[in-house]
Amino acid sequence: MSDKTAKLSLPNGEELELTVLSPTMGKDVIDVRALGKAGYFTYDPGYVSTGACESKITFIDGGKGQLLYRGYPIEQLADQSNFEEVAYLLLNGELPNKEEYEAFVAKIHNHTMVHQQMMNFFNGFRRDAHPMAIMIAVVGALSAFYHDSLDINDPQHREISAMRLIAKVPTIAAMCYRYSVGHPFVYPNNDKSLAWNFLNMMFSQPTNDWEPDPILVKAMDRIFTLHADHEQNASTSTVRLAGSSGANPFAAIASGIACLWGPAHGGANEACLNMLREIGDVSRIPEFIARAKDKSDPFRLMGFGHRVYKNFDPRAKVMRESAYEVLELLGKHDDPTFKVALELEKIALEDPYFVEKKLYPNVDFYSGVILDAIGIPTNMFTVIFALARTVGWVSQWNEMIGEPSRKIGRPRQLYTGATERDYVEISKR
Ligand code: CMC
Repeated sequence: MSDKTAKLSLPNGEELELTVLSPTMGKDVIDVRALGKAGYFTYDPGYVSTGACESKITFIDGGKGQLLYRGYPIEQLADQSNFEEVAYLLLNGELPNKEEYEAFVAKIHNHTMVHQQMMNFFNGFRRDAHPMAIMIAVVGALSAFYHDSLDINDPQHREISAMRLIAKVPTIAAMCYRYSVGHPFVYPNNDKSLAWNFLNMMFSQPTNDWEPDPILVKAMDRIFTLHADHEQNASTSTVRLAGSSGANPFAAIASGIACLWGPAHGGANEACLNMLREIGDVSRIPEFIARAKDKSDPFRLMGFGHRVYKNFDPRAKVMRESAYEVLELLGKHDDPTFKVALELEKIALEDPYFVEKKLYPNVDFYSGVILDAIGIPTNMFTVIFALARTVGWVSQWNEMIGEPSRKIGRPRQLYTGATERDYVEISKR
């Protein structure tokens, strides 16, 4: 709490004193809860200036290009940690010691398989269904399998649900792909990491003994780590809102996946790669740059710009490094898509329009290039984002449910529709 206050002069002549809350990092927050009692609501479409919750999980300073998970810089975690450890950190608040880490990894890996009955769901979908459509349905359907542990007020039930989600969503994600190409599902190997397993479940066949290269596993692990949480973005807020009604975590996470699907959010990496392919050749870049600058053309350079990061996206820096490692390993420097990406990056970083508007390549620009080089189809990109973000979603959901003063989320509105009027019979209209 703080002793700072803000004074607001209301239209009825009264003055309202509002408490100013001080965060451990970031901007002060004006507590507007007293406004409701005074007879007013606040109006903030897009929640541009609204904090809807208190959280201890992730901090972003867009101006500084800073992203911290539980206080730890994302660059350090991407370099020195791994996805499983980051999951522990996001869920529990502290880095684990060796025993805690091993116990957590063993627990997570113990839950990677999905119920055999779940396989039947896949057969109901067309082979050409978007994998996000399948993912939303199958993750939601997990609710039907774990009736024994759906009491959200029981911390142990919440813990096991979190484990199940973190462990099973990668398996489900890979199953979505295998179903679309008509290949048999691959079972996870619990001695291996989630990143290793994801690649193996995507690409290995019963007919060969393919194993993912450690450089690809590291790149995948980094993609997971960098996407694991991002504060109160649209999908995370969706999970919190859905969960605030007491809905079970599988249903809440399925709603987050649905929200993530949109091109302004998780769908941007897919849109970015499609754009690189549409450009097709370096010689066509000037045409697309001109279109991006043309105010009468709705086209935007996908993979550039960010609502919060206005100097650089710290995740993009790390992803760029991985993109070079992966393309080197796969000998794909001459790949036309990569050539277009490199040239576009160069031009956009020098072009005054992009420099002045602070439009830097974002994480999706490089992650799309990596995933494409590995051979992952573009319609799986958002699925991979969802897989990684599941860790953030369950951590944020768990934090919210554990809060004793939790309230159902229920925004108000500025009503601008018709005033009260009487019903008119159809013959008289
Ligand atoms: N290409 C061309 N011009 C752009 C772009 C772009 N990618 N992004 C922003 N602008 C221009 C925009 O036209 C506007 O110009 P003006 O001031 O002259 O009207 C100015 O820059 C500010 O744009 P804005 O839409 O007000 O900025 P925003 O902060 O609301 O939007 C954004 C952020 C990410 C939605 C936007 O930059 C964009 O559409 N980028 C492309 C999509 C994309 O890559 N999204 C992935 C974001 S990273 C994933 C995640 O964290 O979820």
